[in-house]
Amino acid sequence: MRYPATLSLFLLVASLSLAGLPPARAGESPRPVAFTPPPDREIPAGPFGDLVRKGEKIFTHTGRYAGKYVGNDLTCESCHLDRGRKPYAAPLWGAYVSYPRFRSKNMKVSRLGERIQGCFRFSMNGTAPPLEGDTIRSIVAYSFWMAKGAPVGTPLDGTGMLRMAPPAHIPDPARGKKVYEARCALCHGADGLGTFSGGEVGFPPVWGPRSYNRGAGLAKVAKLAGFIKMNMPLSKGDSLSDRDAWDVAAYVDSQNRPADPRKKS
Ligand code: HEC
Ligand code: HEC
Repeated sequence: MRYPATLSLFLLVASLSLAGLPPARAGESPRPVAFTPPPDREIPAGPFGDLVRKGEKIFTHTGRYAGKYVGNDLTCESCHLDRGRKPYAAPLWGAYVSYPRFRSKNMKVSRLGERIQGCFRFSMNGTAPPLEGDTIRSIVAYSFWMAKGAPVGTPLDGTGMLRMAPPAHIPDPARGKKVYEARCALCHGADGLGTFSGGEVGFPPVWGPRSYNRGAGLAKVAKLAGFIKMNMPLSKGDSLSDRDAWDVAAYVDSQNRPADPRKKS
């Protein structure tokens, strides 16, 4: 059969773009789906909305609203940027639809609340709030609301942090120090200890006694490199080369920070 020229061009383009997107086959992981969380104005009035707003407050001002479980100067938002909405900064909408999930860290299928307890213990260098208490219940409600309308059972694009391809060179902390001084010290301080004004943290500490501990996700160089690559310098994500991201991550994670609470020393 003969098609008019424009139609055959259209068919060619259509088949080429389909060729780039083969259907997922059995045994392959499904392709990630894009998702945008709902805007704040859709938080409903009433008890559910109140719990959601409380969760957001704890998330963005963790020391103020859940201080007894916090052992450093970070908030949840220090890493889960844009109030837990930013893709590739482990957004809460992506987290909500990913649990319960098996985690080799504690060899069990964990609920979302248990995963949040983990961030309190390691990333916040604090203690786990009770699973059925107000703190976890509010943050779970905030996450649930943020995932409103998200498809379940299929991975969402931007969930978790970027998984870096293995580095071409062994990450070099000495070179990373130069990257740090040029691209990071301005905000986090040459001493890595962050900045404060009026008792509130301005730029959070990236090492030292008031940062995340050695049991935290970001204490792994690969995880930190992926976080930095997509998110730092703040609002200039994806501007460092992979090599700079690996080296600066190796430098930051070679500095002093609180011990892993699971290890007696
Ligand atoms: C120092 C950085 C940091 C801080 C602070 C932090 N987290 Fe996390 N969080 C991480 C990292 C890293 C992961 C793992 C992401 C991954 O594996 O892709 C994570 C994972 C999570 C997950 C699961 C995400 C997923 O997709 O599986 C949730 C939920 C979560 N954190 C909640 C919190 C809450 C609530 C707080 C505050 C109490 C908090 N986090 C504080 C770094 C942090
Ligand atoms: C323009 C200021 C700015 C620059 C430059 C910057 N950051 Fe950040 N960084 C921030 C802010 C602000 C946060 C916390 C975000 C929030 O609370 O909303 C943050 C969070 C972080 C965190 C997670 C929280 C913590 O304290 O551990 C790490 C790690 C980090 N930055 C590393 C870096 C690295 C490495 C560089 C250089 C490549 C860098 N940042 C450059 C402002 C900056």
